[in-house]
Amino acid sequence: MKLEEFKPVNQYKAINWNEVSDMIDKATWEKLTEQFWLDTRIPVANDMDDWRELDDDHQWTVGHVFGGLTLLDTVQSEAGLTALKEDVKTPHETAVLNNIQFMESVHAKSYSTIFSTLNTPDQIKEIFEWSDTEEYLQNKAVKIANMYLDPSQDPLKKKVANVFLETFLFYSGFYTPLYYLGHNKLNNVAEIIKLILRDESVHGTYIGYKFQVGLRDRTEKQQQDMKDWMYNFLYELYDNEEKYTHLLYDQVGWTDDVLTFIRYNANKALMNLGQDPLFPDTASDVNPVVMNGISTSTSNHDFFSQVGNGYRMGAVEAMNDSDYDVKDPNAGKDINACD
Ligand SMILES: [Fe+2]
Ligand SMILES: [Fe+2]
Repeated sequence: MKLEEFKPVNQYKAINWNEVSDMIDKATWEKLTEQFWLDTRIPVANDMDDWRELDDDHQWTVGHVFGGLTLLDTVQSEAGLTALKEDVKTPHETAVLNNIQFMESVHAKSYSTIFSTLNTPDQIKEIFEWSDTEEYLQNKAVKIANMYLDPSQDPLKKKVANVFLETFLFYSGFYTPLYYLGHNKLNNVAEIIKLILRDESVHGTYIGYKFQVGLRDRTEKQQQDMKDWMYNFLYELYDNEEKYTHLLYDQVGWTDDVLTFIRYNANKALMNLGQDPLFPDTASDVNPVVMNGISTSTSNHDFFSQVGNGYRMGAVEAMNDSDYDVKDPNAGKDINACD
């Protein structure tokens, strides 16, 4: 914020969770805190045998898919949630967005947990160089980030950008681990992705809901303009996403299936925003192996459904001296991995 825009406050109000004006804030807070997780609890090293069986082309796709996802979660954890917090209706919304922002940092970090297990230092370096420079990946990251970063941008459009990222643009990447999960491969990597997907599903629904609440206050003309803009923006993103998908998947021959999957998810993004679907693709058009990866996962794809992921928080117990007896990390043991 520029100095001349600063207006000092003469009062600051404490957040009161006993007076919640929008119950969706409270329900979302409870849902998100209930499903809290950390990447360090998933034993990715157990996937090494599956990983070694993949040929170079498939390993390349997996590594670069996760490079792309790292970039998108970085955008969300930095510019994305910072922008959304500029336009809240309730203090509880800020609290929910704080939770989301932290989890986006967990998501962004969790891919590094995967890289550090599966990839060599040289491969990791190459993946990050690729993510920071690849044209179609940068196109989508920059398009969304510039919506967030522009202080003159309509806050409702920032919410649209957010939902498009959460519910649409991630899915060209999510396809790969779900595909392997459907084939009973890379199950621990997939577990991380399922936990991310479960979070993104709540994030997309919540921000979509806040968008719909905000849109109701606009005139009919403004609502129509917003709708026109939204569909154009989606087309623009889809056009780029097609090219990105070819780049990632042509060499393994999955491109058409991935494109069906992302059109299906683009429709879901529109649904979160209270709009009609754009593409004819439905769940029955998506590769059943991938749908199986979603449905046999214990992750939920619907807001407020019961927390059902296989991941469990550790039972809480008092610490004692032996808790400090950690193994020597130089001995090559992962001290964080659970059994
Ligand atoms: Fe995320
Ligand atoms: Fe998210």
